[in-house]
Amino acid sequence: MSNDQKEIYTIGSKSYTAVAINTAAKAGEWIKLKLGAHARLDLKSSSQDLVTEVDRGSEALIRNLIKTHFPDHAFLGEEGVGSGPEASVKALQEAIGEDYLWIVDPIDGTTNFVHGFPFFSVSIALAHRGEVIVGVVYDPIHDELFVAEKGKGAYLKGKPMRVSAEARLSDSLVATGFPAGTHTTLPVNMKGLQSIAPHVRNIRVVGSAALHMAYVAAGRLSGFWEIGLNSWDLAAGALLVKEAGGEVTDTMGRSYSLPVRHVLATNGGIHRELQLQLAAADATGYEA
Ligand code: IPD
Ligand code: CA
Ligand code: CA
Repeated sequence: MSNDQKEIYTIGSKSYTAVAINTAAKAGEWIKLKLGAHARLDLKSSSQDLVTEVDRGSEALIRNLIKTHFPDHAFLGEEGVGSGPEASVKALQEAIGEDYLWIVDPIDGTTNFVHGFPFFSVSIALAHRGEVIVGVVYDPIHDELFVAEKGKGAYLKGKPMRVSAEARLSDSLVATGFPAGTHTTLPVNMKGLQSIAPHVRNIRVVGSAALHMAYVAAGRLSGFWEIGLNSWDLAAGALLVKEAGGEVTDTMGRSYSLPVRHVLATNGGIHRELQLQLAAADATGYEA
């Protein structure tokens, strides 16, 4: 590794990845303590878009820890942005040019958290000039920490992760979500669901996009797609999937970058088939 490359990943003795891991672990432990004990539930863009004081507290904790280590770095967290897609797009546009940008979802899977359904995660990514170089997703209930560094692979509990080997949709287990845009993104995703379901072994909807991406990286899911996500849902997971040997694009098959909102992440082997199926169903979320 050249000195220049080294500079990207460490400042003095501080590793970006170590800070991301430590911060995700601390936030995750705190969220777990609050499970079943949130005091306040508010609605954001729709009646299906929830936020609690635990989401806000987790983001404050993460921001403070990151800023302690890297005061000059920029920070984009879900709870610091107004609700709805326009505000999210604008916030990312304003921040994407930063040298170092931390992109954070303090609880991905708030609906699960609120109901005590034990699948939610903390998602932390670091982008260097618009490209994700560190991605960490932590599931505090199952104590699973998924971590990837650009060019260095993806790991679960310290062991290298690899995507699954399925080469056909008919052998695949895929996941999607039910997005909160009840009149916009949800109907499009439902079209995709209806079209994909008969062609795959089965479909799962666990309720955390970041965990779905981590599960693709870990080979537990063959693929995942969803319409209308935000950069904080996807940034860490996209690096996990790529570093585990998978493929991440938008639903039209174009390479992943931070602004992508309609995502397709797979083991690579089923990518084209799944993309064609979504396109045939007019379910990519893009104008035909
Ligand atoms: C949500 C989750 C869910 C997905 C939604 C996201 P949040 O994030 O990732 O799985 O279907 O589209 O908004 O609101 O729990 O951070
Ligand atoms: Ca989220
Ligand atoms: Ca969230």
